[in-house]
Amino acid sequence: MQNSAGSTIAILTVGDIVGRPGRDVLKDRLQGIIDTRRADLVIANGENSAGGKSITPDILRELLSIGVDVVTTGNHVWDNKEVLKILDSEPALLRPANYPDGVKGHGWHIVDRKGIRICVINLQGRLFMEPIDCPFRKFDALYDELKDRADIFMVDFHAEATSEKRAFGWHVDGRASAVFGTHTHVQTADEEILPGGTGYITDIGMTGSFNSVIGITKEYSVQRFLTFTRVKFEVAEGNRKINAALFEIDRGGKTGRIERIIT
Ligand SMILES: [Fe+2]
Repeated sequence: MQNSAGSTIAILTVGDIVGRPGRDVLKDRLQGIIDTRRADLVIANGENSAGGKSITPDILRELLSIGVDVVTTGNHVWDNKEVLKILDSEPALLRPANYPDGVKGHGWHIVDRKGIRICVINLQGRLFMEPIDCPFRKFDALYDELKDRADIFMVDFHAEATSEKRAFGWHVDGRASAVFGTHTHVQTADEEILPGGTGYITDIGMTGSFNSVIGITKEYSVQRFLTFTRVKFEVAEGNRKINAALFEIDRGGKTGRIERIIT
């Protein structure tokens, strides 16, 4: 499963999957991306995969069956009660680790690929979002707890504000192998490798219909901004794309290359 270089591992991170259009385009094109990039592991954000809100047991199974290895989420994971049935029992389904103690689910998962232990951590920002526990300090605590149990740490930082995401990247530089932002659904062109070897991108974008406002119908969004009332929420159709990023990481946990993908 290791990529062609042998000494590195290639990890594909897929931007927030929005509803059936996002699932369908992923089903059609994911294997092609895995094959051409020789991806060893696929992490996808699934917090919007069920009708634009949360994820269900059936949809988790569907994503795992098409080649996704770990599913991360975010603030919208709580929007469908069905998810509560699987948050504790599915190791590959994460919710942000910095929700308060006692909340259902878990925020990290370790996967082995050819003897390389990859820890995926899901965290959520607090700027313009719920004031949950500090994601910076939560990473510190998890890293201290897990650093002897994993070689590579991948962080899905699910957050609204670019400043919080960038600050987090610097905070974990040299400890996390990669930080990939999610939640805004707009891919940023700021991928870089920080001095300590952490691959960083503010947001990897969205997987779904781009004939939309971040995956939801234009009509809904315009009416919301015109009236600030509840209007009919619908996932958009048309112009389906996958937004993703590939990180090539050496056995020492340093990122050597990042590729942004829009397809
Ligand atoms: Fe979100």
